[in-house]
Amino acid sequence: MCGIVGYTGHQDAYNVVINGLRRLEYRGYDSAGIVLDTDNGSFEVAKTKGKVDDLVAVSENLKGRATVGMGHTRWATHGVPSDRNSHPHISNNGKLALVHNGIIENFDAIKTILTDKGFTFKSETDTEVLVNLIQYIMDTKPELDFSIAVRFALNEVYGAYAITVMHADYPGVLVVARLGSPLAIGLGNQEYFIASDASPFVEFTKEAIYLEEGHMATISLEKGVDIRSIKDNSKIDPVVQELKLNIEQIEKGGYEHFMLKEIFEQPKSIHDTMRGRLLVNEGIIKMAGICDHLEKFNNAGRIIIIACGTSWHAGLIGEYLIEEFARIPVEVEYASEFRYRNPIITEKDVVIAISQSGETADTMAALKLAKEKGAFIYGICNVVDSSISRITDAGSYTHAGPEIGVASTKAFTAQLTVLSMIALKLGSHNGTLSTGEFRNLIAELYAIPKKIEEVLETTHDTVKEIAKNYIGAQNFLYLGRGYNFPAALEGALKLKEISYIHAEGYPAAEMKHGPIALIDENMPIVIISPRKGHYDKIVSNVQEIKARKGQVIAIVNKGDDQVTAMADYLIEIPETSECFSPIVASVPLQLLAYYIAVYRGANVDQPRNLAKSVTVE
Ligand code: F6R
Repeated sequence: MCGIVGYTGHQDAYNVVINGLRRLEYRGYDSAGIVLDTDNGSFEVAKTKGKVDDLVAVSENLKGRATVGMGHTRWATHGVPSDRNSHPHISNNGKLALVHNGIIENFDAIKTILTDKGFTFKSETDTEVLVNLIQYIMDTKPELDFSIAVRFALNEVYGAYAITVMHADYPGVLVVARLGSPLAIGLGNQEYFIASDASPFVEFTKEAIYLEEGHMATISLEKGVDIRSIKDNSKIDPVVQELKLNIEQIEKGGYEHFMLKEIFEQPKSIHDTMRGRLLVNEGIIKMAGICDHLEKFNNAGRIIIIACGTSWHAGLIGEYLIEEFARIPVEVEYASEFRYRNPIITEKDVVIAISQSGETADTMAALKLAKEKGAFIYGICNVVDSSISRITDAGSYTHAGPEIGVASTKAFTAQLTVLSMIALKLGSHNGTLSTGEFRNLIAELYAIPKKIEEVLETTHDTVKEIAKNYIGAQNFLYLGRGYNFPAALEGALKLKEISYIHAEGYPAAEMKHGPIALIDENMPIVIISPRKGHYDKIVSNVQEIKARKGQVIAIVNKGDDQVTAMADYLIEIPETSECFSPIVASVPLQLLAYYIAVYRGANVDQPRNLAKSVTVE
């Protein structure tokens, strides 16, 4: 979703802002813009539909012109991607510039009022309404300070936002505010940075303030950072945090794409997820979040998992794991449905939110609802200090490291690793798992990074070759049973989001209730068929597909014979317990989607229309 970068200091603001926008490209966007407060006291604005490179092409003349400025990458909500709708937006009197991430829901009503007062609008955006509302407030109450006028305006709007505003008569001052969308302030040496996350300024400072919900800040070299409540202007003491992020983690490190780098990082990221928590020699799992609240989980009437997209697929596998090993009933819900369907939630429920970014608007809203109803809320997030991780009662970070590719890969397998540890810990605690079973399972889980290393080594070239055959495919079907049904859903999602080929995931047995009608010699079907877990049934499903001449790409265990005898293409993975097989099987599925997309010339790291952090509903 939209990215914001702001700067006030002594460096060339153009370079800081443009480089910062590049770091935020992963969030997904369709246009970009920059505004600088030049030394002669006027704004210089450049904006364009397209990528940051397109912005550079129309703005290079602004290099070296200012030490204060801000930029934006826009993911269209109100109005198509176009030069006009790109941010920054400038007020009618030319004095205010504003960039915005989020949605102002009552913009239409305010626009009507402002139009009646004589304001005109160049774009279809809600953002241009907000910047003119601030102007209107300053016009009608000239005694108000700039930041107070911003605060007044924000009290008139509702929706979700992170904004940064500049005023030509307040040189060097940036006013920022947050409600629902993240914003971080980097504290440098005689310089301040603003950004949607810390990646744009991590090479300049390790100190940051994450603005809290409902807070705003006025930032200048003279007065530093002054944080206030948007609602009542009360002063808030800043909490300065030390950034753990380093620059190598957010660079490609020799890989062609972040997605490929992140696929290859999985042996390490899964290991990092387990580090210090799964102690295989001692035969224990000690993961603070869960260990401190075992009784809460044990006494829960049920566990409700809420999430979106890939994280929702992880949630489905979590359901299988927790029900099998801990025998606690689990429901898995799309956050967007849960929040609007008046769900029954009681104080006995435990609600687990799974979110890589920790910022997904629907998941956040569903969680708030569950909290209001008294449920115990638990977060599984990758981004440390993200909004979701801060509102939960307890939680476990996935520790997969920053995931930059829009399509989630290593965060997904880290989520499965955390869910596996939770299920096993609960099962061993409540006695549904014997000590022997528990020890065997944790030893298996501990061995997964090695197995993934093997998968990466042995299947990479094979998958690359298989992918070449499907550059022109129109449709794909992904099938799996048991634990590998959600893995099939995830494989299909990966393919469609980065290659734009239509793909559906299905439980293999459901095929005969509909999708079988689609099967002919042109239909590629990826079938996840490990030996452990309904193998005989899968063999029958493959026979049914072959009887209709479908093309079978089978993921099998080494030494497999029956599926192997029928499949058109084989991808061999090492054997593991059925419950952990989705972690291993996901890796070749990610590679398959990646190579098909690369061969089709798609922008793998920033697929069209998608955003890494979905901060609007
Ligand atoms: C798919 C993908 C999305 C996200 C979804 C939820 O590759 O990345 O489907 O999984 O938008 O995002 P988080 O996990 O950040 O809540």
